[in-house]
Amino acid sequence: MRVSRRGGSVCNIVTKMLAGGSLLLPGLWLLASFPGLLAEAGGERRKVTLQYNPGLASSSVNLLHVRAVGHNDTLHYVWSSIGAPAVLLLYTRSEHSALRVNWTKLFSSSPAGALWIEPPGSVLYSTGVVFTKVFEYNGANASALPEGQFYPPYDLAGFSWQSLNRTLNRTALTATFRGVDTSDPGGAFRNGTISFKVTAYEQSSRDGPLPRLLHTANSSKVEFIMDQVAPRGNGSRFLLEVVTVEEKGGRKRLRSVRSIDDEFTPTIFEMAQLVSEPRNNSLGSSFFQWKTTAYGSRDASRENAIRCHYHPLQTANRTLPGPSILHAYFGEGLGHSLTIAAINISFGGEDGEIYAEKGYLSWSALLGFGVPPEDTFSPLVIAIMAVALGTPVVLLVAGGMVVLFVRRTRYSEYQPIN
Ligand SMILES: *[C@@H]1O[C@H](CO)[C@@H](O)[C@H](O)[C@H]1NC(C)=O
Ligand SMILES: *[C@@H]1O[C@H](CO)[C@@H](O)[C@H](O)[C@H]1NC(C)=O
Ligand SMILES: *[C@@H]1O[C@H](CO)[C@@H](O)[C@H](O)[C@H]1NC(C)=O
Ligand SMILES: *[C@@H]1O[C@H](CO)[C@@H](O)[C@H](O)[C@H]1NC(C)=O
Ligand SMILES: *[C@@H]1O[C@H](CO)[C@@H](O)[C@H](O)[C@H]1NC(C)=O
Ligand SMILES: *[C@@H]1O[C@H](CO)[C@@H](O)[C@H](O)[C@H]1NC(C)=O
Repeated sequence: MRVSRRGGSVCNIVTKMLAGGSLLLPGLWLLASFPGLLAEAGGERRKVTLQYNPGLASSSVNLLHVRAVGHNDTLHYVWSSIGAPAVLLLYTRSEHSALRVNWTKLFSSSPAGALWIEPPGSVLYSTGVVFTKVFEYNGANASALPEGQFYPPYDLAGFSWQSLNRTLNRTALTATFRGVDTSDPGGAFRNGTISFKVTAYEQSSRDGPLPRLLHTANSSKVEFIMDQVAPRGNGSRFLLEVVTVEEKGGRKRLRSVRSIDDEFTPTIFEMAQLVSEPRNNSLGSSFFQWKTTAYGSRDASRENAIRCHYHPLQTANRTLPGPSILHAYFGEGLGHSLTIAAINISFGGEDGEIYAEKGYLSWSALLGFGVPPEDTFSPLVIAIMAVALGTPVVLLVAGGMVVLFVRRTRYSEYQPIN
């Protein structure tokens, strides 16, 4: 069963209407494009540099430091596959703040305090995300909910990760953490890998490939990729568990943003996001957002879209899952008052057979500081709304003028009474 193609996308309908032809449209199109284009091209710029294992002469472990310097502030992203793949996001009100790593301590059994920022006290906000486990279950009954038989989960903390050296691209600002399950009793990883591809951004723009997420200079993208991992059943579906960390009483909230516009991500009308709600006027906030779709091919298209479902955010009695790079910064949470939240994101359901066919799954999310970027209506949809709303207005105005004209000629027929 493939994804139900819910009618035509808005985009298609609009294109058809445009094909109908109207002289008004090109002008409206141009006018309507402006706000959208300005919103996407504008915004703050940051100077971004990537550092691999700073201060360590070895590529046996992976730590990627993304330093994004703006006016008066710096964002530090620390991505690492030491333990479970994870990222630490630190915001400092200084252009000169620097990341320090004590590698001896990081590799020791008590890594707390192995990562810090200098000058001390310059960090105004910190958050973290850990990708803990990949679950596989039999979803043959085509239910959106993961139920039925679960196979033993893949614990990402126990994976072996290739050296980032091979995939690091300092110009494109990308790097891929690619790993395999070291125990792998079933041989699912004989040809297969699970990857996390990281992309940093210097300015606001929209991604070229689907789901065409809109990003800012304050955000980075992570793409979760399952490539040729052999499924353990005929109706296998996968589920990714994501854990987020907030400091000082801040907490994450799950929000859904819906739109009638699917031009950028065809057939997908929902954006889900975890947004931090700071308490006590904390000096920052962050977001983790994704479109509710994954793709079943390297060339993402609406034909290979795989529906993505998210499950309720779990916040009760959670501790920092271990091990990951977050322990090196937050410690065990002592003296940091951490708020931990976890969410399951599952792929497939009615359209889940696509993975079985191609053996490929890709899902993208954006992590960033501040408020999440918000899709405005696409130029095409603004144009069609302008036409839809504009036509009656034009008719009204035209009608009004006719009435006025007629009345005037009538009035002029009155003869002044002297
Ligand atoms: C940077 O900080 C200085 C001093 O705190 C201030 O005068 C200046 O306006 C700030 N610049 C920007 C771009 O925020
Ligand atoms: C790094 O950590 C080790 C072990 O905790 C400690 O002995 C050493 O002094 C630290 N090095 C620096 C430069 O802080
Ligand atoms: C699918 O549903 C049927 C009927 O509800 C049930 O008998 C069967 O065991 C289910 N199969 C799986 C794999 O869950
Ligand atoms: C791995 O790939 C080879 C060649 O493409 C194929 O013959 C083999 O069946 C694959 N093994 C698994 C476990 O998918
Ligand atoms: C899976 O598919 C194979 C071949 O199509 C079939 O022999 C087997 O019975 C199926 N297994 C289940 C649990 O449906
Ligand atoms: C995710 O799903 C798995 C399998 O049902 C479950 O063990 C785990 O607790 C779930 N995690 C969250 C955060 O809901």
